[in-house]
Amino acid sequence: MSTIEIKKGIHWVGTVDWNIRSFHGPAYHTQRGTSYNSYLILDEKITLVDFVDIHFVEEWIRKIQQIIDPSEIDYIIVNHIEPDHSGGFPKIMEYASNAKIFCSQKGKEGLMAHYPGEYRFEVVQTGDCIHLGERTIQFIEAPMLHWPDSMFTYIEEEKLLMPNDAFGQHIAFSKIFDDENDQCIVFEEAKKYYANILTPFSSLVVKKIEEIVKMGLEIDMIAPSHGVIWRSYPDKIIEKYMQWGKGESERKAVIVYDTMWNSTEKMANAIMEGLMSEGVDVRLYRSSITDTNDIITEILDAKAVLVASSVINRTMLPDVAYFLEELAGLKPKDKIGASFGSYGWSKGAVANIEKKMKEAGIKLVKEGLEINYVPMKEDLKVCFEYGKEIGKMI
Ligand code: FEO
Repeated sequence: MSTIEIKKGIHWVGTVDWNIRSFHGPAYHTQRGTSYNSYLILDEKITLVDFVDIHFVEEWIRKIQQIIDPSEIDYIIVNHIEPDHSGGFPKIMEYASNAKIFCSQKGKEGLMAHYPGEYRFEVVQTGDCIHLGERTIQFIEAPMLHWPDSMFTYIEEEKLLMPNDAFGQHIAFSKIFDDENDQCIVFEEAKKYYANILTPFSSLVVKKIEEIVKMGLEIDMIAPSHGVIWRSYPDKIIEKYMQWGKGESERKAVIVYDTMWNSTEKMANAIMEGLMSEGVDVRLYRSSITDTNDIITEILDAKAVLVASSVINRTMLPDVAYFLEELAGLKPKDKIGASFGSYGWSKGAVANIEKKMKEAGIKLVKEGLEINYVPMKEDLKVCFEYGKEIGKMI
């Protein structure tokens, strides 16, 4: 894929990774691949914004060379030092060793920790500006969105925000703009990204957007570091981030369960019927055969989370435990929930699930429901009513 001029004199020189299927180790599944977006600004001061993953450095350098000689780069802006972006840093410094590097204080520390060397750093803070010639660049620190070093770059004259990971999506593409791609997929992947990466920092997301609004920055394009560029829907994705950040939910419930001999599954189905009888939109997932990232994505805008398991060795089944470990780390905002499951000669699953749900910040609104061995007709009625009562609370 060639370079793309996204605004006059501003070129995408990123790379597309069609085959990556797992990010952050095994933690984030990228079924649609991803891209590492890097931008080259041609002005009196030639400026490079962000880099690419180490595996794509040669291709990236060739792209820059299609436009300029990399040794001509005057300024380098590092919005974020995670290796999927900073992987290209040592290579570009071989070409542009005199370039001035703009980054946050934490960015400088992180770069030095990853790539020790002698560089011309200029540490910037929110509100600091640099003039490239025709364009003015403003920096906005964004700590913990999603690393301590994270920073946004804003080009005033272009109304262009380059927020690195924020507003990104893990999508490989052949067309770079939001309106050239399937809108459902783009927003779905943006939602997945938010749910699985930014959820723990939701209050900071809201504050950052409010800060940007207060600064009066006009934004007509958002060019993130992963996925497509928002030129038609920048307002919509900002609005979505506000909703997700505030923990706004729909009348929706997510049931996550695993089952040994289908008894817990029967309970889950009856509880789902009860929820549905109250008009609640329900998602039902068996944790051992469903991608955890997809479940987390559905939880983002759900009000209720119900978690269930059969008992094994006095506790829950392993895939339920994995899911809950993820959830406890992410701590989704403002959810209610409950737990249930079948048991044989000893209990333990529901109590341990409840413990973990509390750790995830979920407010338990019903006592856990446990049924011995196989749920009979009367038991399933109890399950239905259980779901119905929770449905009334949503
Ligand atoms: Fe895409 Fe936080 O790196």
